[in-house]
Amino acid sequence: MPPSSASHPNGSADVAEVVIVESADAAGELAADAIEHLVRSRPDAVLGLATGSTPLTTWRALAGRGLDLSRVRGFALDEYVGLPAGHPESYRSVITREVVEPLGLTPERVRVPGDDGPIETAGERYERAIDDAGGVDLQVLGIGRTGHIGFNEPGSSFASLTRVKTLTQQTRIDNARFFDSVEDVPMHCITQGLGTILGARHLVLLAFGEAKAAAVVGAVEGAVTSSLPGSAIQLHRQVTVIVDEAAASGLAHADYYRYAWANRLEWERL
Ligand code: PGA
Repeated sequence: MPPSSASHPNGSADVAEVVIVESADAAGELAADAIEHLVRSRPDAVLGLATGSTPLTTWRALAGRGLDLSRVRGFALDEYVGLPAGHPESYRSVITREVVEPLGLTPERVRVPGDDGPIETAGERYERAIDDAGGVDLQVLGIGRTGHIGFNEPGSSFASLTRVKTLTQQTRIDNARFFDSVEDVPMHCITQGLGTILGARHLVLLAFGEAKAAAVVGAVEGAVTSSLPGSAIQLHRQVTVIVDEAAASGLAHADYYRYAWANRLEWERL
């Protein structure tokens, strides 16, 4: 079970809080609110960093807050295996370009799995580094069309830790937009496991657009199953799911989520 979060007023919540917003920009502001609150109370907070298109509005909103994030520590969710060092689409490069530089994080305080030696044993070292940092306080997550979180493709154990995985062809196709062709997208990756992700104290999952609607339904309202790795979030006690209308379009209880958010208590926050 994830560590408790006694300092959070919603720390005892036993269901995901689902917030449906009008735009990715609005979602980014809300996620940035949660991160800002955390960092103001703990300047050396540990953030779980996601790449991809989804978190970009969060990073942009956070950059606009003028916070000193130089003491924040960061752990990326995942990385491709097999790209040459310094490749612009390696997640180390992406994190540097999209997170570290615009937010003013200290590069030495940001880790990416597989960045420290032999890949065969990189997972164990990454787990140890996260433990040594005291665990992840807030993990930002996107979700793939396959239902993956991190690069945990269908069939991933809910107890899995950081390890090397094979990407599905769907994920390679989805990520081909960042490369010249799908053949250039690596076949392998190293990713935090579902167990690693569940160990973070607060999960903030973002999803935008119709293409994510099925994965969002599966993750939030579907059966808890390794066939849809994002459904692992239902096992966590502090999850915030922030989606736009299109990504929320398949949710059976969307009206309730809207109602609950509109009527949230004054002291409630993400
Ligand atoms: P995206 O990827 O944000 O680029 O859609 C999300 C994911 O694959 O986890």
